[in-house]
Amino acid sequence: MEAKQNKPQWQYDEMKLCGVKFDTEEFADKYDKHHQKFRDYKKEAQQRIELLGLDKQSAVIDIGCGTGAFAINAASYYKKIYAVDVAELMINHARRKAKAAGIDNIEFHHGGFLTYEHKDKPVDGIVCTLVLHHLPDFWKQVALTRLAQMLKPGGRLLLFDVVLSFDIENYESYIEGYIKTMVERLGTEMKQELETHFRQEYSTFDWVMEELLKKAGFEINTVDYREGFFANYLCTKKDE
Ligand SMILES: C[S@@+](CC[C@H](N)C(=O)[O-])C[C@H]1O[C@@H](n2cnc3c(N)ncnc32)[C@H](O)[C@@H]1O
Repeated sequence: MEAKQNKPQWQYDEMKLCGVKFDTEEFADKYDKHHQKFRDYKKEAQQRIELLGLDKQSAVIDIGCGTGAFAINAASYYKKIYAVDVAELMINHARRKAKAAGIDNIEFHHGGFLTYEHKDKPVDGIVCTLVLHHLPDFWKQVALTRLAQMLKPGGRLLLFDVVLSFDIENYESYIEGYIKTMVERLGTEMKQELETHFRQEYSTFDWVMEELLKKAGFEINTVDYREGFFANYLCTKKDE
């Protein structure tokens, strides 16, 4: 196991997932079926590859890789992908999919933002899709600082997450309206996942996320805020 051993008692325990239970057989099994109702993994990966703009010799970390939505579809574009997740059941799915597709340049690691120790050379890029909201803000800052240390100067971070940019005075109607729209599009299964997200997970504000990224040593090159709920940041690690 690669995760950092003997962590101090005050350390946030990222292995105890907050909110949605990705570490249960039931959830991991239905993840792809569920998410592919509203995501096209191939198309998404293609867009991320283009945004990152890295070449075939590059090494990339996919932190919070889940079932491999990015890693599996991006493997042929890079020399190596380090796919890291705290939920072994999700990694097992990704590993099975990689094997079935004959992919041999993904290295899987059980670990997370706060515990993964990157033993190889700093990488050219890091992708993080729908993961950082699992940590409270202080630990987000620690996580982003650790990610910056795993990147080469000039290396790129592509961070996509639920980030809140709607008008806070009307938060109830925004959240209710968003859940209603998603349930209409995707069915009632989504309701529980979204309710859990807002009740128990740690999505933060756009202005907080921007400062966290800058303080961790990133320059934000582009940011795309969508529907008041999502953000896609393309960042570059500043030279030391
Ligand atoms: C919504 S899924 C996203 C998975 C994948 N990135 C995707 O695009 O489908 C969130 C993933 O983050 C993982 N996760 C949660 N907390 C984490 C942490 N502290 N470090 C790394 N991964 C974490 C979960 O186990 C889960 O696989």
